Amino acid sequence: MVIVQVVSVSSLKGGVGKTTITLGLASAAYASGLRTLIIDMDPQSDVSAALASRSTHGYTVDTILRSPTNKNMKLAIAPSSWTAQGDSAVDVLMGSQASSQHDVPQPTRNDLWRLEEALVLIEKRYDLVLIDCPPSFNALTQTAWTASDAVAIVAEPGLFSVTAVHRTLNAIESIRQSMSPRIRTAGVIINRHRPDSREHQFRLGEMDQLFGDHILTPIIDETLMMQQATGAATPIHRWPGEPSQTLAQKFDLILRQILAPNRV
Ligand SMILES: Nc1ncnc2c1ncn2[C@@H]1O[C@H](COP(=O)(O)OP(=O)(O)O)[C@@H](O)[C@H]1O
Ligand SMILES: [Mg+2]
Repeated sequence: MVIVQVVSVSSLKGGVGKTTITLGLASAAYASGLRTLIIDMDPQSDVSAALASRSTHGYTVDTILRSPTNKNMKLAIAPSSWTAQGDSAVDVLMGSQASSQHDVPQPTRNDLWRLEEALVLIEKRYDLVLIDCPPSFNALTQTAWTASDAVAIVAEPGLFSVTAVHRTLNAIESIRQSMSPRIRTAGVIINRHRPDSREHQFRLGEMDQLFGDHILTPIIDETLMMQQATGAATPIHRWPGEPSQTLAQKFDLILRQILAPNRV
């Protein structure tokens, strides 16, 4: 029996490309026939805006965190606009600004288990769950991690990335010890790399030295294609042209590494 894998896509700051990477990985999952659910845990709800094919009439992650029932899960999940009607290959558990109400300073253990409870209800329907997390180590992120098998960290090759990756690795370790022994670090996905930037080459070298084992390859360059594909609600695997296929293959490789259970 195939067991669903739950992967959080996280970073400790915004704008590094969590949503973009989530969509790239979802596109790779879709292309390889994995039934995929994307959970939009970010109150900004960018992934829902980019992907959902219809409204869920106010049923969202917020509803689920209040009451993780089968009925609410059904109502809060929309098919993605990628998939043809009747084909449920990629679905979205809708995000909402209201989910920020669950970002309490001292979440209880029950609060942190809420999403895990909900995922048990749908685990037979999906092969992969990707969680687009908020850009900080808040209660929503902790809730997402508690429900996850693995956390993929997104980072840019920038000045503060080293510290951010360190802090994220430490935060994952603390959740592993306090809440969920099964959680592992899937690795660091480097995004928005500019091959012509000397600063980026320097930072890349620095990150490689410090986190070599954790860095998932290949790294993702800054390219307009990703933005265009997202804007057109098209998976990168279906975006025309050779460069997009090269990029699509990068996401295939990264997804494969994330799902390989023997990675640390
Ligand atoms: N590899 C990339 N190449 C070009 N633009 C990118 C890339 N990754 C992200 N972006 C752009 O950067 C902005 C922030 O990305 P986003 O995925 O929304 O970040 P986050 O979810 O971490 O806040 C968006 O406008 C997005 O289109
Ligand atoms: Mg985002």
